[in-house]
Amino acid sequence: MSTESASGYSRKNPFPATLTVNRKLTAEGSNKDTRHFEITLAGSGLAYEVGDSLGVFPCNDPVLVEQLLGRLGFSGDEVVPNADKVSVSVREALAKSYIITVPDKKLLGAIAAKDSSAEFLKNFLNPANKTNLDQYLWGRDVLDPLLEYTAAHFTPEEFVAHLRKLQPRLYSIASSRKVVGENVHLTVAVVRYTAYDRPRAGVASSFLAERADGEGTIPVFYHTAKHFRVPEDPATNMIMVGPGTGIAPFRAMLQERKASGASGKNWLFFGEQQAKSDFFYRDEFEGYQADGTLAKFTTAFSRDQAEKIYVQHRILENAAEFYDWLENGAIFYICGDAARMAKDVDTAMHQVVEKAGGKTPEQAAEYVDALKKDKRYRKDVY
Ligand SMILES: Cc1cc2nc3c(=O)[nH]c(=O)nc-3n(C[C@H](O)[C@H](O)[C@H](O)COP(=O)(O)OP(=O)(O)OC[C@H]3O[C@@H](n4cnc5c(N)ncnc54)[C@H](O)[C@@H]3O)c2cc1C
Ligand SMILES: NC(=O)c1ccc[n+]([C@@H]2O[C@H](COP(=O)([O-])OP(=O)(O)OC[C@H]3O[C@@H](n4cnc5c(N)ncnc54)[C@H](OP(=O)(O)O)[C@@H]3O)[C@@H](O)[C@H]2O)c1
Repeated sequence: MSTESASGYSRKNPFPATLTVNRKLTAEGSNKDTRHFEITLAGSGLAYEVGDSLGVFPCNDPVLVEQLLGRLGFSGDEVVPNADKVSVSVREALAKSYIITVPDKKLLGAIAAKDSSAEFLKNFLNPANKTNLDQYLWGRDVLDPLLEYTAAHFTPEEFVAHLRKLQPRLYSIASSRKVVGENVHLTVAVVRYTAYDRPRAGVASSFLAERADGEGTIPVFYHTAKHFRVPEDPATNMIMVGPGTGIAPFRAMLQERKASGASGKNWLFFGEQQAKSDFFYRDEFEGYQADGTLAKFTTAFSRDQAEKIYVQHRILENAAEFYDWLENGAIFYICGDAARMAKDVDTAMHQVVEKAGGKTPEQAAEYVDALKKDKRYRKDVY
């Protein structure tokens, strides 16, 4: 994988892109705030391919920046080095350059050194205590230990020396250039939660949702994913499994397959919580069913009934047909949650091969391994 581009723009030299559309995909009654974004890359020469991701350099929440400045007693105008060693105001450094949503253990050590009641934080400097450190960090940002240990005081320069560099986030591209030209579409779940009585939000997802208005506000680059392309032979069939925001690259692939007139059949599995509020891009996919771009479209709404129904349950219900598609050379694609969904779908794949292919668990494992070796099991999970 690489982040290079012939345009001259790259992760090291991101293009200042402009957000043109910010639309909620989730409707009233949803437990989520998942959005469709459109960003223009006009003038950038950035030529992404379907399957690639867009890298976004976010800014931190200005409210959190001001809370930090207030607690630290800084005016905000003091000059400090940013994470690239360029001199900027501490306000700008905290907004654009440093991580302020997760305290680094160096900062915890420095707070412990300055406030005797925070002595226990020193234990987290020992790598053997990583699990305890992770537990402590869950839900805490840089402001939390500072509010708790009020005897810890820093100069602006000293403070930023204990922070790490803010990193870009990747988002699967949800569009094909054949259809959207110099634009790029994303499907993003905005991370929001409350911890220690303060509402919090994911840095990049809330940046896109709330703070990315204005010309050239979003520094972007694209991240090539050569392993996650539409089939090289347009006659090859595709099975795509994309619950939640995992749908993004498959929207792009369907746009591409339709625009290029690919003759291979397409089968899409989509899952979300509730059909009435979380059926992303419903009209588009039903349109693809009607015009034949989608040969099959299978949904799993997990919370529309008492028992959970997930995409893997639908795969198992369709085991015979699913196995037939694999036997006929289909390429299997999966995108979305890596922690649980992708593992459970993998288990379902083995069960399909056992059940519909009449194989032992060992033979099914060999069959799935062979798919992977032949690049017919393509994953983009996070
Ligand atoms: C290749 C790739 C493609 C991706 N594609 C997409 C995509 O298409 N759409 C999409 O939405 N995302 C996608 N992601 C994920 C995306 O990159 C970000 O990780 C995601 O948007 C969260 O980033 P953030 O900056 O908003 O949140 P962050 O600031 O990174 O915060 C997230 C962190 O908040 C903490 N947290 C979350 N909930 C809680 C809670 N309840 N209590 C305490 N702490 C909590 C956790 O530590 C979590 O890791 C992709 C990732 C990769 C690697
Ligand atoms: N670390 C975590 O605990 C965690 C959890 C969820 C999502 N995430 C991340 O949050 C981001 C956004 O998530 P998202 O909104 O795109 O969707 P998502 O939370 O992955 O949910 C999409 C659908 O998948 C269902 N689902 C839950 N567990 C599943 C499993 N084991 N197998 C199959 N389907 C399952 C959900 O059902 P239900 O909600 O009804 O269970 C929902 O219907 C992603 O980055 C994802 O990786 C992280």
